[in-house]
Amino acid sequence: MPAPTPAPAAPTPPPARARLGSRALFPDLEVAVYLNHASLSPPSEPVREAVRHVLDGYARRGMLWYSEEMERRERVRGQLGRLINAAAADLALVPNTSAGVLTVALCLPWRRGDRIVLFNGEFPTNITPWQQAARRHGLDIVWMETESFRRDRAAALEALEDHLRAGVRLVAVSAVQFTTGQRMPLEAMGALCRRHGSELFVDAIQGAGIVPLDVAAMNIDYLTAGSHKWLMAPEGLAAFYAHPEAARRLEPNVAAWLSHEAPFAFLTDGPGQLRYDRPIVESARMAEAGTFNVLASAGLEASLGLIEGLGVDTIFDHVQAWHDAAEPSLIERGFESARMSDPGGRSGILSVRPPDPSTTPAWARALAEHGIGCGTPDGWLRLSPHWPNASEEIEHLLTALDQVRSEQHSS
Ligand SMILES: Cc1ncc(COP(=O)(O)O)c(C=O)c1O
Repeated sequence: MPAPTPAPAAPTPPPARARLGSRALFPDLEVAVYLNHASLSPPSEPVREAVRHVLDGYARRGMLWYSEEMERRERVRGQLGRLINAAAADLALVPNTSAGVLTVALCLPWRRGDRIVLFNGEFPTNITPWQQAARRHGLDIVWMETESFRRDRAAALEALEDHLRAGVRLVAVSAVQFTTGQRMPLEAMGALCRRHGSELFVDAIQGAGIVPLDVAAMNIDYLTAGSHKWLMAPEGLAAFYAHPEAARRLEPNVAAWLSHEAPFAFLTDGPGQLRYDRPIVESARMAEAGTFNVLASAGLEASLGLIEGLGVDTIFDHVQAWHDAAEPSLIERGFESARMSDPGGRSGILSVRPPDPSTTPAWARALAEHGIGCGTPDGWLRLSPHWPNASEEIEHLLTALDQVRSEQHSS
């Protein structure tokens, strides 16, 4: 008699796949045209599922679930490493972008009179911690204008090199400017920093997940990027990268219990392990000082899975096609576009403004009533589509703009 054939195992569902231009993974998104990923991304179904899975795991198993999250943390570091071309060992998970900036501002062994280059026009998180370091340690801030890099890139890079020649400890810049969407020339800036012995710090929250980033090719010493914008994960988590040599220069001024080697030994290995003299890790992980956000981390693993599946270059091209299709019609309607003609200066953000920028918030409020979500930093109407956005949405946007204009005229 032939042996009975075993019942086939229940098939495991294939991992959810993102499709460019499809909102299928955002079934509950009520905003008809969501153009605000530069502020915050709505969570996709896989992100929500991943977060629920963690909560359910803790609900069922309490502390027994913890090891799952420790393993996930390693996997997420690996994913982030692939995103920026870094080793997982050089990445830490910190609470937000600000924590990444603060880590370097608080931990570099500054010398009185050290000069740092900052950029007027940057988001304040990449200014305030450096200003505080300057106050505390007697540093000199050298100000440059982000806008000078949009007007004349070559001249701005020459001006930067003049400053570097005079001696600069660190240059702190965003990968992408949050107002105009200008992608900064990181590769050129990194090469100049290397040539003149300066360090390069990058706030990459407006770049990671949408523009290609390569810490090795760009000679980046430190980079940080929060999870809730272009990485499309929940709030409360950020990547912090430090080049291994740069990490060794940091003083452990933000260290706490998890910054030590073998931090769990006193909890798991019996008596006599509760010591305060264990070495502090000499890597970016020093900044992982305490319990981290496991829910956001699960969401990040899921969203990075989708982003990796598509590929950042492919997403970037998709978003550029959206911008290409929308921009001329916006200009035709009297808006000024901040988008650079040099493709190397472009990002996920297409910012435009009406002739009177003080009316931008009113435009955004009116557009919201027509189902369009966008941001309004510093008088710009910021449109920030990502992989789920489709070019068909542009018609909806333009119709809404025309309706808002006629409402403005009739009121
Ligand atoms: C360039 C830039 N840096 C930082 C942040 C936010 O920093 P954090 O993650 O600390 O809230 C934003 C936006 O919120 C931003 O646009």
